[in-house]
Amino acid sequence: MPGRIPQNFLDELVARTDIIEVIGSRIPLKKAGREYKACCPFHGEKTPSFTVSPDKQFYHCFGCQAHGTALGFLMEHDRLGFIDAVEELASRAGMEIPREAREAADGPDRELYDLTSAVSQYYRDELKGDARAKEYLLGRGLTGETCARFGIGYAPDSWNAVLRKFGSAEAGRHRLVGAGLIIERDGPKRGDDNHYDRFRDRIMFPIRDARGRVIGFGGRVLDKGEPKYLNSPETSLFHKGRELYGFYEARQSRADLKRLMVVEGYMDVVRLHQAGITYAVATLGTATTQEHLTRLFRVGNEVVFSFDGDRAGRAAAWRALENALSQAKEGRQIRFLFLPEGHDPDTLVGEEGAEKFERRLADALPLSEYLVQHLASQVDLEHVDGRARLAELARPLIAKVPPGVYRELLVDRLAETVRMPGPRLAALLKLESIPGERAANVDERDEPSRGATLSPGRRNLVRQAITLTLHHPHAAAAVADPDALADVDRPGIALLIELLKAAAGAPKSTLAGLLERWRDRPEGTHLAKLAISELPELSREQAAIELNQAVNKLLADGSPARRRDALLVKARSGQLTSEEKQELQKLLAARTTPGSPQPGGG
Ligand code: CTP
Ligand code: MN
Repeated sequence: MPGRIPQNFLDELVARTDIIEVIGSRIPLKKAGREYKACCPFHGEKTPSFTVSPDKQFYHCFGCQAHGTALGFLMEHDRLGFIDAVEELASRAGMEIPREAREAADGPDRELYDLTSAVSQYYRDELKGDARAKEYLLGRGLTGETCARFGIGYAPDSWNAVLRKFGSAEAGRHRLVGAGLIIERDGPKRGDDNHYDRFRDRIMFPIRDARGRVIGFGGRVLDKGEPKYLNSPETSLFHKGRELYGFYEARQSRADLKRLMVVEGYMDVVRLHQAGITYAVATLGTATTQEHLTRLFRVGNEVVFSFDGDRAGRAAAWRALENALSQAKEGRQIRFLFLPEGHDPDTLVGEEGAEKFERRLADALPLSEYLVQHLASQVDLEHVDGRARLAELARPLIAKVPPGVYRELLVDRLAETVRMPGPRLAALLKLESIPGERAANVDERDEPSRGATLSPGRRNLVRQAITLTLHHPHAAAAVADPDALADVDRPGIALLIELLKAAAGAPKSTLAGLLERWRDRPEGTHLAKLAISELPELSREQAAIELNQAVNKLLADGSPARRRDALLVKARSGQLTSEEKQELQKLLAARTTPGSPQPGGG
């Protein structure tokens, strides 16, 4: 949604914001050289590794790798949504978000949000007047406070209570259908309307998005009845594969969520929160998706899946593992907690209390352990054949894990089980040659580290140019024709071109402003990493010269024909530097050498 706020407004806002002021008003900052330091608000620590750079308008924690702009800080620290964080900064800067943008941020769905929120309130009011529903919730061990916190309500036993209250006009009915709250009847029209309420005589759990807006409902029968739970259908607001029940409430509960627990049901979440385990969330009757996991890992680095001990629970756990593999990497913990048969978190925490329940977490199986154990249970490890089969079963799974330390450890663990040296197993699994994995990356092999410098001639020119542009956006103006780079066949080149144009196109480009443009895109992560790296101090002019050199070298290496033509044009106007003259001579010589390939030429 960020795209809906005009880019120039965002640029201006970022340029007018001082990150030191924003962060300094929330946590005490100490000046240390050109930067400011503090104990990181996102993880517990005694010695400060949280650094804020006024030059870059960027913060970074060397302990937990948290990083971002002032806007990102507000979102993480104050747990604000994007729009709200923008609003907060705008009011600090004395700026007003263009009104269309504010409305556009909720999109055409604005009216739907208003409706779902009003209906949610209606269900809550109905609960107050219904002794049977209140009794049911009481019987399930919920306090009034918990019901209020989760906005739990009751849909009355009526075919048209919501319809009558919110759908008296055509437009209202249309919206109710859009929100999945009423259903259109098949067949001939009966009476003056042919719609009926989806939720009747059910306990209603409002499902909220990360900003706390009601986007859908889960409704449970009070007695026996089918289905036990009825959920809102997929609507323009509600996507099951993305949303997690309890996520908003979990984020509201405390500033530093390190661990999240994924459970199966509404009642599990509510009951766990009530017991003080406020890091519980649930998927909504679906398997855990990549998107769920991405969300979870944005908040904490430990995810525990908790499943019932029965067969269905085990099947769900394995599906969760399969989806979690691509998210596994060092620094992240993914574990699986299996509960005793016949129990779910709701009943268990009710029986034994939070403390005992949390102690079970110590026995949760790490992903690697669960993977190996599960596969090992399917083969006969006493025989070579069985062990070979195990390796075979593991191959497609391990291939999903991104290359790195974590994957190597996983292979080692597996090697132990199949009694084979790790490297030999790795070779057997042929993990090195998984295609396409790095395609989107800007050469992650040599991670930018603290104090990394960009000496000329370093091998990754694209990254060098990107880093320079990020740190010195004004230098981008010195690159005459970013599009010329389009012929250069190197990873990251498209990102460089886009970045150069963005930096040159906005009058007030800053590092933070550029990062904001990539906030919701996968490349944003790479850019943030490059933003963290330190450059040697460069003047404005030097930065422009270095950037130009990097770009020219890219052109020369990657697209000699184009570079040659560009130099020839420049030569005609007699503007070549002596360096460029030499370069042109080389290019011309290369052209006349028989048999020399000319990539990009023609
Ligand atoms: N579920 C669903 N539709 C159903 C049944 C279940 O969407 N017909 C989802 C709900 O999110 C539910 C979860 O699966 O919370 C777990 O279902 P189940 O284990 O059957 O119920 P419990 O959570 O144990 O519910 P309760 O304790 O209220 O009986
Ligand atoms: Mn249950």
